[in-house]
Amino acid sequence: MFPIITFESMAQAERASAMSVHESFSSETRDGVAVWSMIAALDSLCRPARSRFHLLTRRFAQRSKRSTGIVTIVRMNRSSQPNRTPDTLTSYFWSGDTIRSRRVSDIVRTGMVEVPALPTRLLADWDREIASRMVLEPGDVEVMPLARARMRWPDYTRCVQSMSNWTGALGLPGVLAASDVALMACRGARYHHDGEQYGGAVFCNLFLSEDKGLDVHFPSLDLRIPLTRGTAVIFDTCQPHGVIQRHSGGFNAADFRPDQDYVQMFLTWELPIEDAHVGQVLDVAFDVDPSTASRLDAEQVRLNGEPVMVCPESGRWRRTD
Ligand SMILES: [Fe+2]
Repeated sequence: MFPIITFESMAQAERASAMSVHESFSSETRDGVAVWSMIAALDSLCRPARSRFHLLTRRFAQRSKRSTGIVTIVRMNRSSQPNRTPDTLTSYFWSGDTIRSRRVSDIVRTGMVEVPALPTRLLADWDREIASRMVLEPGDVEVMPLARARMRWPDYTRCVQSMSNWTGALGLPGVLAASDVALMACRGARYHHDGEQYGGAVFCNLFLSEDKGLDVHFPSLDLRIPLTRGTAVIFDTCQPHGVIQRHSGGFNAADFRPDQDYVQMFLTWELPIEDAHVGQVLDVAFDVDPSTASRLDAEQVRLNGEPVMVCPESGRWRRTD
């Protein structure tokens, strides 16, 4: 299976990754929405492949007048190479009062949505809150008071509406409005997965801070997404992720010097994985290992049948002993 990454523009796709076209792309229309698709290999940034990529993009863009500007890039990963057994990553999650199993999705959807510049008094309040009432060390991710923020944020509803339009265009109509939302702050993020607490959910994040030179990084997918105001990302909670410096290959606390502002604020929605639209957009297969699921009494993630954890610095899977 190929991981699918979605961008709203070619420029954003190129910023996110060095890629070259592996095969020609095709267009696809579902629910009247044109989607730009291509199969690209994330290898070296070679010039002939780049020119071909641009040529195909321009040609397709001229054809698809009705496009929403969403680009889907289907990327080869190492495990999709011949002669190698693909890794099997399985989430065991609470569904009511039973544990169900499911495949962990390789699909990350990303785009840019309109977020008007945040009011100065809101930013000042967040600075005060972080400095005086919480501990936000490098690598920490913490909840912030959303109701208090909304009192200083007249454009909050507009931001949510933009996000709702974006998720609707991806095939998730009404899902955002029905899901829990939280306001979060992070100062970078050590690599982790959230499958022991949110295995039954997909995260849908809208980043609010200006570009501070940080990327959200999915090491198993070899995917980086630059964080700036309006970056939107949907991903499987069980997929290892971290927030690191753009120049860095991993998480290093020393990269987040206290005299520099590396705080990223974001809104996050928990979308239920068992929602038919959510499962479809992330191409999740359910009940892949019912016998193990029936023996568990807590959420967990297993790689090729073994319980695993994520190395906080490299993001690689490690066996738990
Ligand atoms: Fe997380």
